[in-house]
Amino acid sequence: MKFFLDTANIGEIKEVLPMGVVAGVTTNPSLIAKEKQDIKEVIKEIASLTPGPVSAEVISTEFEKMLPEARELAKLGDNVVIKVPVTVDGLKTASALAAEGISTNVTLIFSANQALLAARAGAAFVSPFVGRLDDISQDGIALIKDTADIFAIHGIETEIIAASIRHPQHVTQAALAGAHIATVPAKVLKSLLYHPLTDAGIRRFLEDWQKANR
Ligand code: E4P
Repeated sequence: MKFFLDTANIGEIKEVLPMGVVAGVTTNPSLIAKEKQDIKEVIKEIASLTPGPVSAEVISTEFEKMLPEARELAKLGDNVVIKVPVTVDGLKTASALAAEGISTNVTLIFSANQALLAARAGAAFVSPFVGRLDDISQDGIALIKDTADIFAIHGIETEIIAASIRHPQHVTQAALAGAHIATVPAKVLKSLLYHPLTDAGIRRFLEDWQKANR
């Protein structure tokens, strides 16, 4: 399973990229709004910094507006992937963009059937939301597993991005369930590194070294 960073914050991206573990970035309108900057400027900068796919989401909800908006966003970088919601208009847009060679990430997936439809519409990626399902007492990881099983059974190459990841357990479980990618906030990504025995081990090695070299 690969990692994408789930943020529109340039500082976070610059801080985390040198670790060499981030293969792409996902944004959404809420994340862009937090940055209080023009969406095109933000996506352009993120796309230039990131050595992999950068998802930029359309705001329009109707196909006639979604398609031109998507085409404009796609011009912001060769690695820009267009995020569309899993609606009739979203799938029409995904299908039209696929025919034009523009990759899409179909988002707000909350059922395996939605994921299957998105894949058949030509989506390069689907984004099932784990945390938001858990929030309403449903099983977000089960959705990842069902989607991965269905895609494997039917030889579907669309990649599954486990989204709405809230904590390290989600990451481990998404990897075990067959997600190709987990998109994670910087805070969660950094928390994956933490283990008290690692910190204690470093302290003990340094103390032993200093004792022997007094
Ligand atoms: C990413 O593609 C999603 O938009 C994001 O992971 C949603 O996360 P949230 O449910 O924590 O807002």
